[in-house]
Amino acid sequence: MTTDPVELMNLAARVARVAGDIVIRGRRSGTLDSATKSTATDMVTKWDGLSERSIVEAIRSARPSDGIVGEEGTEIPSSSGISWLIDPIDGTTNFMYGLSGYAISIAASDETGAVAGAVFLPATRELFVAARGHGSWLGERRLECTKQSDPSTALVGTGFSYSSTRREQQGARVARLLPEVRDIRRLGAAAPDLCFVADGRLDAYFEENLSPWDMAAGLLVATEAGAVASDFGGGPPRPAEILVSAPGLHSSLLTLLAN
Ligand code: IPD
Ligand code: CA
Ligand code: CA
Repeated sequence: MTTDPVELMNLAARVARVAGDIVIRGRRSGTLDSATKSTATDMVTKWDGLSERSIVEAIRSARPSDGIVGEEGTEIPSSSGISWLIDPIDGTTNFMYGLSGYAISIAASDETGAVAGAVFLPATRELFVAARGHGSWLGERRLECTKQSDPSTALVGTGFSYSSTRREQQGARVARLLPEVRDIRRLGAAAPDLCFVADGRLDAYFEENLSPWDMAAGLLVATEAGAVASDFGGGPPRPAEILVSAPGLHSSLLTLLAN
């Protein structure tokens, strides 16, 4: 079975579009059937489950030996060396409230990390894709992050956890950063945030306490567009701490985040 990054990217893209169509039909149906998960504000709808089911069935039928991990409970071990990480709706709060910033996020990984990824925003029909070593793309346009190097004029995205204790810590960090940058955006979905660093809608993005499926595809889109990624100490990016930025901003933002 092929491990060609471009073929994996094309599969991720195809599957993400199909799931996105399911999800947007769900949104228009007005029947969301929502329930809570880790906290009273961590929501899941019936469309999260249906999106994940459609993605898992499509990947299983195309590549039966691959592993799959999905936010809504899928855990299939890999016997091919390739595993998929799925966020069937990233930005469920936006989805529930009728805000357009939600996405289907799908990444294929090998032992060294993401090989291919797709992030599809059904409301705007934007499809971000990346393949390791082949760049990242929005339609026909190859993406390049900004050349911003001055934090005081940098637009920085972030996000907050569903845990109120963690939000208190995150809020304190944002309060320290806010006077040092152009402005902060909390758009409500980590995968699009990362793609927006890739295409210059943000100069940087950071967050704490993500899950692997939030960041896998978007991180590849961002780094293939030239963005630099790390944790807050300058080590490899990880769900617990991720900073992704234009290369010229990275070291100054690391210093600001450490404060
Ligand atoms: C959440 C979104 C949000 C981020 C949270 C994530 P979900 O994912 O990506 O922007 O701040 O950390 O959990 O729950 O909507 O899939
Ligand atoms: Ca998510
Ligand atoms: Ca989700």
